[in-house]
Amino acid sequence: MNAMAGDRSGENTTPTPLADYEELPQGHFYDPDAEYEPDPEYAATLAPDAARQRRERIGPTGRPLPYFPIPGPLTDHGPAKIIAMCNQKGGVGKTTSTINLGAALAEYGRRVLLVDFDPQGALSVGLGVNPMELDLTVYNLLMERGMSADEVLLKTAVPNMDLLPSNIDLSAAEVQLVSEVARESTLQRALKPLMADYDYIVIDCQPSLGLLTVNALTAAHKVIVPLECEFFALRGVALLTETIEKVQERLNPDLELDGILATMYDSRTVHSREVLARVVEAFDDHVYHTVIGRTVRFPETTVAGEPITTYASNSVGAAAYRQLAREVLARCHAE
Ligand SMILES: Nc1ncnc2c1ncn2[C@@H]1O[C@H](COP(=O)(O)OP(=O)(O)OP(=O)(O)O)[C@@H](O)[C@H]1O
Ligand SMILES: [Mg+2]
Repeated sequence: MNAMAGDRSGENTTPTPLADYEELPQGHFYDPDAEYEPDPEYAATLAPDAARQRRERIGPTGRPLPYFPIPGPLTDHGPAKIIAMCNQKGGVGKTTSTINLGAALAEYGRRVLLVDFDPQGALSVGLGVNPMELDLTVYNLLMERGMSADEVLLKTAVPNMDLLPSNIDLSAAEVQLVSEVARESTLQRALKPLMADYDYIVIDCQPSLGLLTVNALTAAHKVIVPLECEFFALRGVALLTETIEKVQERLNPDLELDGILATMYDSRTVHSREVLARVVEAFDDHVYHTVIGRTVRFPETTVAGEPITTYASNSVGAAAYRQLAREVLARCHAE
């Protein structure tokens, strides 16, 4: 009899989840067991081992998943922290991450400005703007003295989030800037008057380490490096970190690598898991706990011209970018 009672008390020692973990509002936390619409297959890509992750609170990077608090409202805004979304490798999720991190920060009441710094204008397209129809773009702001940002700024459909759009005109800046005085800090000077109005400015870089990207790094306080979880992910990252270090030494001592963001992760493939493990091995604490899974919903949002946080607000992809926003805010607060 007594022995049985003893057995039962043994059962009770299984760890209970932390209270705050339970209380997070729906849609704000990536909970492997929650029901997301309407993409159960995608939920499976992130959580083959949901029960264990939940019990031990292990994140997809294999490290214990900290709790990232939901940020409280702000009474004052600015001065802005400037984040450059940067990787010279193409198609790794820079633009997708800029739009959706920006939209998630804006949902949390932060004032956000997104800067399209790629002549392809993909960020502008992703927010429903047709770059071909623009008279004024970030190019004019960079190259024309006396041009004010208000003339170029566009409001987006997301409250609290504005856009400095771009189009193919910007490709001329790369050439024209070469002969300018202090050519690396042109974007920094252009953004200065806007700093007081925003909490976060996120710059979507083009896939190169040319003068435009150096301008973005010179203007930025932090860099986020998205890495696609595929075989050649780490190729070229050494060159990127070298470039970041050079900009730190010569142009912008405040610049810091905020984090490496694993994107397009599919935990059902051994390959994806191995790449993520190697990235964590190489960059350790620099790797965000938040990992973005692979889903067709992201290409869909580009066609829809809006962030996933509004296009599919209850999707795992939206929850992942909300968690990333909270992780980025938590890192900023920790300083
Ligand atoms: N997590 C994801 N799952 C599936 N597809 C994704 C994901 N993230 C981005 N994509 C898709 O991959 C493609 C490349 O993404 P994106 O444009 O964000 O990359 P990029 O790094 O900005 O590319 P570029 O270097 O050309 O600017 C797009 O079609 C996008 O919709
Ligand atoms: Mg892009």
